[in-house]
Amino acid sequence: MTIKISGTGSALPEKTVTNFDMEKLVETSDEWIRERTGIAQRRISTGDTVSTLAAAACQSALEDAGVSAQDVDLILVATCSPELLLPCCACQVQSALGADRAVAFDLNAACSGFLFALNTACAYLNAGLYRNALIVGSEVLSKLIDWSDRSTCVLFGDGAGAAYIERTEDRVCENGRRVGIESVVQGSDGAKGMVLSCGERAVANPFIRQEEAVWPYVRMDGQEVYKFATRQVPRCIQEALEMAGRTAEDVDLFVLHQANVRIIEAVAKRLKADISRFPMNLSRVGNMSSATIPVLLDELNRGGRIKKGDRIVLSGFGAGLTYGASVMVWG
Ligand code: ACO
Repeated sequence: MTIKISGTGSALPEKTVTNFDMEKLVETSDEWIRERTGIAQRRISTGDTVSTLAAAACQSALEDAGVSAQDVDLILVATCSPELLLPCCACQVQSALGADRAVAFDLNAACSGFLFALNTACAYLNAGLYRNALIVGSEVLSKLIDWSDRSTCVLFGDGAGAAYIERTEDRVCENGRRVGIESVVQGSDGAKGMVLSCGERAVANPFIRQEEAVWPYVRMDGQEVYKFATRQVPRCIQEALEMAGRTAEDVDLFVLHQANVRIIEAVAKRLKADISRFPMNLSRVGNMSSATIPVLLDELNRGGRIKKGDRIVLSGFGAGLTYGASVMVWG
């Protein structure tokens, strides 16, 4: 038996906000943003929520896989920006889809969320508990951004991406590669967590005198995040490749979290892999945290850029700090 991705989907808000629009909000320039990040525009919600975007992305992944919502066993939503604390977003998605049989819950590993959800679902499928799962990364980060802070507000966008995965019989592609997930590596470094943070509510109840002030917007030490990503990502990709008995040369596409073009270029350099094997969409959609990997995967899948038998590496990294990589053969 093997586990493979059988369908992908995505959903983005309609509104596009360009760097020139950002120039009207804060003291910045299209040139600065492009040079430092590679971002030219992002999609921003004018009403879409994490659950509406997630449900639309899931619907599209189900259609791509050719299965109905009633067939779904497990729904995992990765998000750090849910619209409600209760119920969880995955239950809202279950209800919107009519996926009555599914078990549904959320998981938060920030920008690594989709990868962590994929690995969690794989563990369930490998254990024989479920046959399939819908995995979604969905974010409306625009509500967590301090729109007067130029160092963060230019980076992020809203959107959702989903994948339908299932346990299937072993299958070998024409190029001799066996379809499915070959290896997984995950890691967390909570001690460095505050380099990228966002507050929620302070402890408040009848038994304490004063609320501690919390800052309810994203705060980031950009240079520390940059150092972490460029050091840790190549390391965990290398580890995942070794675990699968492969090298970077055996990989057709590296689908990385889309935080910053300079991070992706640095990772490619460290892996000694040509940048042409690192597809990017962040110039058009910005950094959508847990949604970046599945949205890019959906673009590549629907655009015919990923073909059956291609070996791909997914790698996420972000707040937590969290990071991970997974090697798989598409089929
Ligand atoms: N426009 C113009 N100037 C700006 C802007 C802006 N949008 N933002 C910051 N600046 C200014 C700063 O105020 C500073 O000015 P000063 O020298 O007068 O003080 C100057 O630019 C340099 O600021 P730095 O923060 O040192 O800029 P840096 O070169 O580090 O670039 C960036 C910032 C792009 C965030 C970089 O640190 C980076 O790539 N970090 C990686 C983190 C990342 O990509 N995070 C995304 C989210 S996290 C994730 O997804 C994992």
